[in-house]
Amino acid sequence: MAKREQWGSRIGFLLSAVGSAVGLGNIWRFPYQAYENGGGAFLIPYFIAALTAGIPLVLFEFSLGHRMRAGLPTIFRRLSKRNGYRNWEWIGWFQPLLAIFIAAFYAVILSWVFYYIGLSFTLGWGADSGRFFFKNFLNVSDSPFEFGSVNAVVLALTACVWFISWLIVFRGIKGGVEVAGKIFMPLLALMMVILMFHQVSLPGAAAGLNALFEPDFRRLTDINIWISAYGQVFFSMSLGVGTMITYASYLPKESDVTNNAFLTGLLDTAFSLVSGIMIFATLGAMAAAQGLTVRDVVEGGPALTFVTVPEALSGMPGARIFGPLFFLSLFIAGMTSIISLLEPLTAAMTERLKISRRKSVSVICAAGFLLSILYTFRSGLLTLDIADYFSGNFGMLAGGLCELILVCWVLKPDFLSDHANRISDFKIGSVWKFCVSALTPLVLIVMLSANIAGLFSSSLPNYGGYPAAALFVFGWLMMALLVLLAAVAQKFSAKRTKETLLHIWEEFSDGKGGKP
Ligand code: PHE
Repeated sequence: MAKREQWGSRIGFLLSAVGSAVGLGNIWRFPYQAYENGGGAFLIPYFIAALTAGIPLVLFEFSLGHRMRAGLPTIFRRLSKRNGYRNWEWIGWFQPLLAIFIAAFYAVILSWVFYYIGLSFTLGWGADSGRFFFKNFLNVSDSPFEFGSVNAVVLALTACVWFISWLIVFRGIKGGVEVAGKIFMPLLALMMVILMFHQVSLPGAAAGLNALFEPDFRRLTDINIWISAYGQVFFSMSLGVGTMITYASYLPKESDVTNNAFLTGLLDTAFSLVSGIMIFATLGAMAAAQGLTVRDVVEGGPALTFVTVPEALSGMPGARIFGPLFFLSLFIAGMTSIISLLEPLTAAMTERLKISRRKSVSVICAAGFLLSILYTFRSGLLTLDIADYFSGNFGMLAGGLCELILVCWVLKPDFLSDHANRISDFKIGSVWKFCVSALTPLVLIVMLSANIAGLFSSSLPNYGGYPAAALFVFGWLMMALLVLLAAVAQKFSAKRTKETLLHIWEEFSDGKGGKP
């Protein structure tokens, strides 16, 4: 077998892992989650979730990837085979496939961001930023089933996003992903800090910060806030879809994993805080300028970024500099995440189906782009909202739960802690084991049940009021399809002999037979 790729340096790995973690989740999702869950009331559950589930699970995934040094299907196959259990390889396919499903709508959001970078130079959204976003730009239809026409601008920009991602992942771990992380992450940190200081210095910013930091202890009894906090940590730290596992599998043999895991989790949280401060300061400044309170000025949900922030920018000094800076930061953060979403399936395909990296990446990006088209119709925002909800609230949680059950309940997590302790400075023990084998699985089970129950009792939070059929088609059916695809992939890879379709295709295309 060809030698497994490796990171060129520890810092390269760390920046890439942080690059995966820091994304739309921090700048676009964290502030609106915090806002919707009562600002200050959200931070305590968030920190607790980060400490009890986020960081322990990053550690878990890093150790698993590094211990097994393989792609996900191989890992799950080996784990189950070695111990004589039934074959769980399909989980190793489900997670990477889910990652592509997420990448498909992630790319479309990035295309909007792309568009807004250009707009922000001239504050092109005009006086009514809400009308601009929903009507002039996306022309959103009334129902997820009312597709309407494709938005050509969004389609073209989405193609660009996929092209850039392809270009980076195509070049491999050391030459592509790592280079992107090393260039983009320091740049992003610099831009975010500049933005944060500038926004905090605006008159009225303090009221916004109060809304973010003032704790509201009474709301801690609301289970939904806890569910949102754990869900946000999961999404933000890129857990449950194989990204962190795959990235860690490219680490050289003797690499510290615990320190890297702590740093990744802490830096991700720091980025969320910086962007929370930046956004809430902006909200405060805008409310002050309009003589209103913070609560009055805000759009909930994803529109916070595309409606409220533009509106705030319009009334701000230096908007033509800080606007582009904001959207560019968002774009960079998103790019380093989307490339990390492509890596698990790339690794899986090269390893199990014996297709070269370049071909795998090309097939994945082409398929991902085709899937993205679904979200470029007039109904795109609505279908995207449903896809986002299902992947975050079901897919990733289920993916994470399965891996914890297999490793911690069916097997024993000791082989991971032993491994991590052998190579790392900071030792982990019973606290970590308790977090990954009892606390987190339990929390995940509660969350999954609550989310399923919630689907029946009300509509989804953001744009709301979806017909049950839409949730079924764009949510459940998609999830079922992913499981099915995973099962098919398991079958295929089991007999990856000359007759597998992919192999035939391979022979046709270059006659070399796909040595990775
Ligand atoms: N963590 C990324 C974000 O915060 C999203 C992501 C999820 C990336 C899962 C990779 C894997 O935006």
